[in-house]
Amino acid sequence: MLGDKKVLFSGMQATGSLTLGNYLGALKNWVSLSDEYECFYSVVDMHSITVRQDPAELRKRARSLLTLYIAAGLDPEKNCIYYQSHVSGHAELAWILNCFTYMGELNRMTQFKDKAARHADNINAGLYTYPVLMAADILLYQADVVPVGKDQLQHLEITRDIAQRFNAVYGDVFTIPEPYIGSVGAKIMSLQNPAKKMSKSDENPNASIYLTDDKDTVIRKCKRAVTDSEAVIAYRQEQPGIRNLIDIYCACTGRTPEETVKEFAGRGYGEFKLAVGEAVADVLQPLQTRFEELSKDKAYIDGIIKRNAEKAGYCAAKTLRKVQKKIGFPERVR
Ligand code: TYM
Repeated sequence: MLGDKKVLFSGMQATGSLTLGNYLGALKNWVSLSDEYECFYSVVDMHSITVRQDPAELRKRARSLLTLYIAAGLDPEKNCIYYQSHVSGHAELAWILNCFTYMGELNRMTQFKDKAARHADNINAGLYTYPVLMAADILLYQADVVPVGKDQLQHLEITRDIAQRFNAVYGDVFTIPEPYIGSVGAKIMSLQNPAKKMSKSDENPNASIYLTDDKDTVIRKCKRAVTDSEAVIAYRQEQPGIRNLIDIYCACTGRTPEETVKEFAGRGYGEFKLAVGEAVADVLQPLQTRFEELSKDKAYIDGIIKRNAEKAGYCAAKTLRKVQKKIGFPERVR
């Protein structure tokens, strides 16, 4: 708890261009939860360097991402929107938690296995201990709830395990966080291969809708989406392409899969794909306009970066001091 509200933490990597999956699986829920909780939304730039980054590009993307959080509807006066690298407590707590995490646990992480396979020339220790840094992010703010897409559930599980292990030794130091998974859009799949999640790192640009895509591009990508030859719009496992498009449509319009199936009964895939594209473009357009406006206001964004880093740093330091004391680090002499 912070004041009389429960605490929410979440973050996104400043790598690649954000996809519709990031928006529907995470960002959209962040906005809807932001009044109810005391929220920390981090641009997790420290996570990004587990894969080689161009420095200028990383800096630019991090700023765009932070601006996008605001453009999507997060009020930076009420929500703490900040860069992870501006709060040293993340790295400090991660080191401590590394000493409470087993290699056997890290070996099981599917994201590590995937990324290690994709970056075989750079399987660094940071990539391996990535989930520990993520646990530190969450536990540092004593978060009660962490809204994420389904692909992050395994990381939430290990965060809970580490926190419980620590608490079992030292008492109730950490709040045990719960994941929050939205009822729609928790796993948006690739438009070109509905067996794979839509991902920033997909090499095929037609596989993902980027938040920066204009209306024509969005509609073209939806029209090209891989479906099947059943020629019936039904919400079932056997038609993963159509099912994914229904999920996207529902997440963008607020309709349920049942309503959508009824709405498009007897109509063709072409017509449905066009409707999906239009629904997506309607969601993205205001976000893009707001993003353009905000990007021009350097002083405003700089002010937010400064103030929120201070706020996050203050909250992080509180937990860190408590942890340091519990594990027996000597007290500072003032
Ligand atoms: P990242 O940057 O890969 O993704 C950001 C958020 O978007 C969600 N997401 C999706 N949801 C639905 N469908 C998809 N296709 C899809 N692709 C991505 C992710 O689940 C995530 O919620 N490790 C995290 C970042 C992180 C973090 C944290 C998150 C670091 N520390 C602490 C929460 C709490 C990551 O790489 O997310």
